[in-house]
Amino acid sequence: MLPLLEIRNLRIYYEYERKLLRAVDNVSLTIDEGEIVGIVGESGSGKSTLGLAIGRLLPSNARFVGGEIVFNGVDLVKAPESVLNKLRGREIAYVFQDPHNSLNPTIKVGYQSGEVLRHHLMIKSKREIFQRVIRAFKLVRIPDAERRFYSYPHELSGGMKQRVVISTATLTSPKLIIADEPTSALDVTIQRQLINIFSDLRERFKTSIMLITHDIGVVAELADKVAVMYAGKIVEFGDVYRVLEDPQHPYTQLLLESVPSISEGGVATLKSIPGFIPDLANPPPGCRFHPRCPLADEECRIKEPDMRVVRDRYVACIKR
Ligand SMILES: Nc1ncnc2c1ncn2[C@@H]1O[C@H](COP(=O)(O)OP(=O)(O)OP(=O)(O)O)[C@@H](O)[C@H]1O
Ligand code: SF4
Ligand SMILES: [Mg+2]
Repeated sequence: MLPLLEIRNLRIYYEYERKLLRAVDNVSLTIDEGEIVGIVGESGSGKSTLGLAIGRLLPSNARFVGGEIVFNGVDLVKAPESVLNKLRGREIAYVFQDPHNSLNPTIKVGYQSGEVLRHHLMIKSKREIFQRVIRAFKLVRIPDAERRFYSYPHELSGGMKQRVVISTATLTSPKLIIADEPTSALDVTIQRQLINIFSDLRERFKTSIMLITHDIGVVAELADKVAVMYAGKIVEFGDVYRVLEDPQHPYTQLLLESVPSISEGGVATLKSIPGFIPDLANPPPGCRFHPRCPLADEECRIKEPDMRVVRDRYVACIKR
């Protein structure tokens, strides 16, 4: 079976102050139908750039330098804008960190959700729109959904707004939801509730989810696979349990070293690793991780590691 999404050798650079920042540099990744793939890595490693590239939502200074993003057989890099317009919001939906920015403050949330049905599915009947929106609100467990339909965003809590955004994303039964830090602006209890909602969506509709997050705990609970990004590259990609239990790339190992156990109730955010993410306009030669890697030697400063199968996953390290 072909994967729902196959990203091959993708390169996205930003033009910035007369420099080219290699934000995503030769990234390959697949997501199958009904699969949840977590994308983790330090701030600035290229996670959001990767997510935005799929729907071609990148800012105007971004350049597609190479590679393919094949979604359901269509290369989204080359597809005309008209095709992208049909896919975005219909087959590919986004959920971002701050639900506030995703909602129009002047329109009642039920009408905003309903607009998706009007726009993408050409549904005209007010009754049908109301019913479908209410059904979606109930699916994400918005209490008192009929009343909330007529609320303005400012009348809802952050968690409730994010539920509205997620339920709106489900209205068109998208094949892929790209969730970029969907829970990180919310408190831990609400985060847990939202995790359950994502899990429900996958169970019920076989929705695939790209889950971008700093929170290893969320990935451990929700994802089937995890891709670890470092400085624009994926350094390890595989089954979530295998990678978290027995990381093979030195970067993944450092990243996981001091993550508090989830059973302790800690928020399992990523550990900070000594040193800095390299300048993406002028990345170090060889392995990009070598200035911070405890195992680095002369070879690592020269030779750029390829993704290779190591045991049961992919790893980009010449010492593995
Ligand atoms: N519009 C832009 N113009 C120039 N550089 C950008 C732009 N957007 C992002 N970058 C740079 O590209 C790199 C990757 O950024 P990106 O936002 O994809 O990282 P991220 O992994 O999502 O980080 P975070 O965890 O902080 O959200 C960073 O170095 C960032 O500064
Ligand atoms: S290639 Fe070398 S520097 Fe890079 S992660 Fe492996 S050991 Fe470390
Ligand atoms: Mg980001």
